[in-house]
Amino acid sequence: MAGTDLTPRPEHHFTFGLWTVGNRGRDPFGHEVRPAIDPVDAVHRLADLGAYGVNLHDDDLVPHGASASERDAIVARFRRALDDTGMCVPMATTNLFSLPVFKEGAFCANDPAVRRFALAKTLDAIDLGVELGARTYVMWGGREGTECDAAKDVRLALDRYKEAVDTCCAYVRDQGHDLRFALEPKPNEPRGDMYLPTVGHALAFVNELEWPEMVGLNPEFAHETMSGLSFNHAVAQCLWHDKLFHIDLNAQRIGKFDQDFRFGSEGVRDAFYTVKLLEDSGWDGMRHFDAHPYRTEDADGVWDFALGCMRTYLVLAAAARRFRTDPEIAAALEAAGAPQLASPTMPDGADAAAIASLRTERFDETALAARGYANERLDQLVTELLLGVR
Ligand code: GCO
Ligand code: MN
Ligand code: MN
Repeated sequence: MAGTDLTPRPEHHFTFGLWTVGNRGRDPFGHEVRPAIDPVDAVHRLADLGAYGVNLHDDDLVPHGASASERDAIVARFRRALDDTGMCVPMATTNLFSLPVFKEGAFCANDPAVRRFALAKTLDAIDLGVELGARTYVMWGGREGTECDAAKDVRLALDRYKEAVDTCCAYVRDQGHDLRFALEPKPNEPRGDMYLPTVGHALAFVNELEWPEMVGLNPEFAHETMSGLSFNHAVAQCLWHDKLFHIDLNAQRIGKFDQDFRFGSEGVRDAFYTVKLLEDSGWDGMRHFDAHPYRTEDADGVWDFALGCMRTYLVLAAAARRFRTDPEIAAALEAAGAPQLASPTMPDGADAAAIASLRTERFDETALAARGYANERLDQLVTELLLGVR
């Protein structure tokens, strides 16, 4: 543990949303506790800490309602900060949740005029993202859902959701942009129930789209955990489908409101398995933090928060490397049969002969059932690894 280099560097591909370090601590019960941060200052501070880039909603950079010339001046000033620091904008997204007009939904609003407004805002935001170099466009449907189920037919809402995503894909194809979309599932908050609530729902939805190859997922630690699900399993399934287009790292306890905590501050075990998965799979995308500093923090605490997210990732990546080289862990993995899972169940395929041979095979059920899998030993080794004594 001691001696591990925990200095974040651009090659680690750590990114933060402008809205994360810029979060002012407002919650449903209390006002803002921190001053607004100029996006240009955020770029400089994050670059100094070793981040690779920043991501943004349209309104995080260009206030809603800005004139074309105001927009261009803001973007040019921001571009200079990126150029001065070498920071990138790998991902962009649209704020389709803050404005009162979206209170009943955006892409899935009952009123077609609201839906058209949401789409027009999104196409403008796509232009902004592409102008800043983004290659991934996140779609989080913050207002897509209901409290009153009588008011909206879910099947029709999904028709309209598909129509909106297909329209965005058509636009990107027409413009020749090098941009992919990443849907971000969330079960609730701010709506009572939201559409595409989990990774599984979103993966199934992608299959119904006009250009499914252009659309993948942006799973978030907090969102799967809110549903009581394993985040690392969700990420693994995205990888398995070749649909991990982006990732939102933060922390969350099951059964709580959307906490958006500093990465690794809760759920260390799931965070470890997530980091291990990303590192073992050779994931070459961003390690994006979508989290908020505690409301207790002043301006300095914001940067403690940002550094903490990155350091924890590096600590867990180092633990994942030790996991790979620890001989006792290797022996326990062997005893658990973990490497055996890579052997096909039907090595000769599933033709009639192979099926016939399967059905005549003699199984020593008693011996198979008697086998122990040493999961207690393996799991304790992981605990000791994470507690820093291995
Ligand atoms: C949330 C979401 C958002 C989105 C962001 C990008 O729970 O508020 O996670 O932070 O990730 O809007 O689309
Ligand atoms: Mn979230
Ligand atoms: Mn998110």
